[in-house]
Amino acid sequence: MRTQVGIVGAGPAGLMLSHLLHRHGIDSVVLESRSRDHVEHRVRAGVLEQGSVDLLCRTGLGERLLREGLRHEGIELRFAGESHRVPMTELTGRAITVYGQQEVVKDLIAARLAAGGTILFEADVVRLDGLDSSSPVVRYRRDGREEELRCDFVAGCDGFHGVSRGAVPEGVLTSYERAYPFAWLGVLAAAAPAVQELVYAHHDRGFALYSMRSPEISRLYLQVAPDEDLAAWPDARIWAELRARLETVPGWSLTEGPVLEKSLTPMRSFVVEPMQWERLFLAGDAVHIVPPTGAKGMNLALADVALLGDAFAAWYGHGRTDLLAGYSTTALRRVWRAQHFSWWMTSMLHRLAHDDPYEAKLQTATLRYAATSRAYATSLAENYVGCPRSDHLGPAPAEAQPPTWPPRDTPCRPGAGGSDATTTQRRSTYS
Ligand code: APR
Ligand code: PHB
Repeated sequence: MRTQVGIVGAGPAGLMLSHLLHRHGIDSVVLESRSRDHVEHRVRAGVLEQGSVDLLCRTGLGERLLREGLRHEGIELRFAGESHRVPMTELTGRAITVYGQQEVVKDLIAARLAAGGTILFEADVVRLDGLDSSSPVVRYRRDGREEELRCDFVAGCDGFHGVSRGAVPEGVLTSYERAYPFAWLGVLAAAAPAVQELVYAHHDRGFALYSMRSPEISRLYLQVAPDEDLAAWPDARIWAELRARLETVPGWSLTEGPVLEKSLTPMRSFVVEPMQWERLFLAGDAVHIVPPTGAKGMNLALADVALLGDAFAAWYGHGRTDLLAGYSTTALRRVWRAQHFSWWMTSMLHRLAHDDPYEAKLQTATLRYAATSRAYATSLAENYVGCPRSDHLGPAPAEAQPPTWPPRDTPCRPGAGGSDATTTQRRSTYS
């Protein structure tokens, strides 16, 4: 088989790249080791930055997203028995949309197949050859047979455990890493969210996060030990721990419901540089991992391939090499901004392993600063909603309204920032 761009991995990065290339008239084949059912039902992250929503909408993938996605204009910080809202849209003109990663994956697969695209599921890539030639070969195993895909370029979008990164000769890549001494226990529950916006809670017992997927489904997380045994967490213990860490504000209580899914997420930061070697271009989790506290993983994957799509279009359309040559440098600017933000959110909100009372005081001081300083909250907000694509270290986008501070108790502007997804939050609790 032959194609122009061979893509390894059908996560958000690989599928979106295939979709963007198709829109530029460039042929690609996606090889995915798991089944379609598996990738469409894997419960993962669920927060889309404004730029990701805009990318999906601009490329014809906005219909269900705008109908079912929950547009949020703020987040809540809960600590020391207090609750503070960070009014992101008021501060930046932009918003986030809650829409599960597997829904993005379903929409992308449907769009590729409807356009006649080729995604080979249960095709396990075992080796990449000839990456330093003009005709690389992707070798994969499918139905017990060894097959090969010849192409002009390979896009390694196969996640942290994929094979692509390992195809680069030793000594070329430099990796930067940090492991955190905790993990997240994630729960999907058939319970109407008891909040309208995401709640990030700092607590002596450990961090907790209240998120959601729909008006009927809550998504909740607890900080636990990195080697935690899921079997030690029956539903009753999970709810008791969530109550202890979240029911810290007078008059607020958790809504409980059947637990539909439970999982453990390790927490690590990881970057490999450069994101390219010869004819191999790496994107998404294959080259960078962030702890989920900043909700950046899926957004970084989409931002990488937005750059790659343009770079391949410039190469095939105009013979330009500059965008492909600059891909790694440009992408890494956003990657490192997100690395810092994710590390910062993680450090501010989790119970640290060594129980250092000095660091615990610093965390409360940092949270209080975010809750009381317009400048600090704006920094948090602009990182959380994501910098505009053209400006990776971004000042406020051109369309932003001048922020007011402190926010008044008025409804947020519907549609501010360009998306029409359902607005679930209109109150401002900040004072
Ligand atoms: N051959 C073919 N496919 C492979 C191989 C292989 N050898 N190894 C891994 N894959 C597939 C995986 O099965 C997975 O479907 O590559 C895909 C990678 O997808 P993701 O892990 O979703 O990575 P990415 O597309 O970069 O998206 C990043 O996913 O893990 C989350 O938090 C992360 O939200 C972020 C997003
Ligand atoms: C989620 O809804 O899964 C989610 C939300 C915010 C995060 C991480 C995960 O920071």
